[in-house]
Amino acid sequence: MQILLTGGAGYIGSHTIIELDKAGHSVVVVDNLSNSCEESVRRVSEIIGKPIPFIKADVRDAAAMDSIFKSYKIGAVIHFAGLKAVGESVAKPLEYYENNLNATFVLVNAMRNNGVKNIIFSSSATVYGNPAVIPITESCPKGECTNPYGKTKSMLEEVLSDVQKADPEWNVVLLRYFNPIGAHQSGRIGENPNGIPNNLMPYITQVAVGRRPELGVFGNDYDTPDGTGVRDYIHVCDLAAGHVSALQAIERKCGLAIYNLGTGHGYSVLDVVKAFEKVNGVKVPYSIKPRRAGDIATCYCNPAKAKAELGWEAKFGIEEMCRDSWNWQKNNPKGYEG
Ligand code: NAD
Ligand code: WQD
Repeated sequence: MQILLTGGAGYIGSHTIIELDKAGHSVVVVDNLSNSCEESVRRVSEIIGKPIPFIKADVRDAAAMDSIFKSYKIGAVIHFAGLKAVGESVAKPLEYYENNLNATFVLVNAMRNNGVKNIIFSSSATVYGNPAVIPITESCPKGECTNPYGKTKSMLEEVLSDVQKADPEWNVVLLRYFNPIGAHQSGRIGENPNGIPNNLMPYITQVAVGRRPELGVFGNDYDTPDGTGVRDYIHVCDLAAGHVSALQAIERKCGLAIYNLGTGHGYSVLDVVKAFEKVNGVKVPYSIKPRRAGDIATCYCNPAKAKAELGWEAKFGIEEMCRDSWNWQKNNPKGYEG
């Protein structure tokens, strides 16, 4: 099948192209490069040994999207495109609502006009808010999101569910990602944040490579085994493979389906720091800082539904995640810039 990846030049999208190619799918990528660069697509093209059709366009551009659906025989869309920085979304709510919601409205309308009714949406564990149960299953009620970014994910889940309800020909898969880290084993592609990283792993790798003096650990007084926050880190290549499995669900006409994509294991901030130091033989100096606003103590999933229904489960452990994150960073100390 030919798959359109919106936001396919980004961190998760670029890795997903490789898994789709392995499974025999072809891709088309549309991205406005607001948080990525075309170099990632060029490198993926080298890795898979094939050209990748790339359209630099904004998903909010209805004419551009219509023209993509008219030019290619798209069977399904994986919708990665969106702004994703939690802190920035608090400072710039309008930009986040405008981009994430409008891009999805324009996309789904263009899909409907062109008879393409299969979509996989990048949702997030953030929709559970402060989760009512741990480990989190898909039947856990959605919670109060503390930031506009998370609210866009929660709202878009509702929008896409309603679209499917109104027209059962639609197949909509909502994938709730936990915490993706790691990079492709080639070390050629990986996470490339702009400015100061918000997320833990890119911060750790930038400390390890000498770009930042030390990691700040946001709080050691949570109700967790060592007091630091616990998360479900998942290797980005496992996450990417989850999209291929979700496409199989679409081919089986799944209607509306929701899956957690995580490993089911929780690691604390200090667990990750220790694993990173041990596997890679590098020091990560850190100091304890106050809690970060909006953070929760513990978040990890029960991934049994994806295993039972999609036959998907994560293969890589925390050591491989740490090894591959470092392999990418040390080979590309300035990301795609050098
Ligand atoms: P990313 O920023 O690397 O990729 C998103 C891509 O979308 C970027 O290349 C950006 O240029 C593009 N984009 C943004 N707005 C666009 C628009 N209007 N038109 C065209 N392109 C646009 O992020 P990622 O980590 O690869 O995340 C992919 C998706 O998964 C996002 O929707 C994100 O919210 C979601 N997600 C990410 C995480 C995570 O921790 N990385 C966790 C849960 C969910
Ligand atoms: C992980 C842990 C921090 C940085 C975010 C989004 C979520 C999803 C994934 C998109 C926490 C601690 C972090 C640092 C630290 N994204 N930390 N020092 O907050 O679980 O999830 O990314 O959907 O929506 O909220 O990930 O990597 O920022 O933090 O101590 O410099 O590391 O407090 O316990 P988080 P994270």
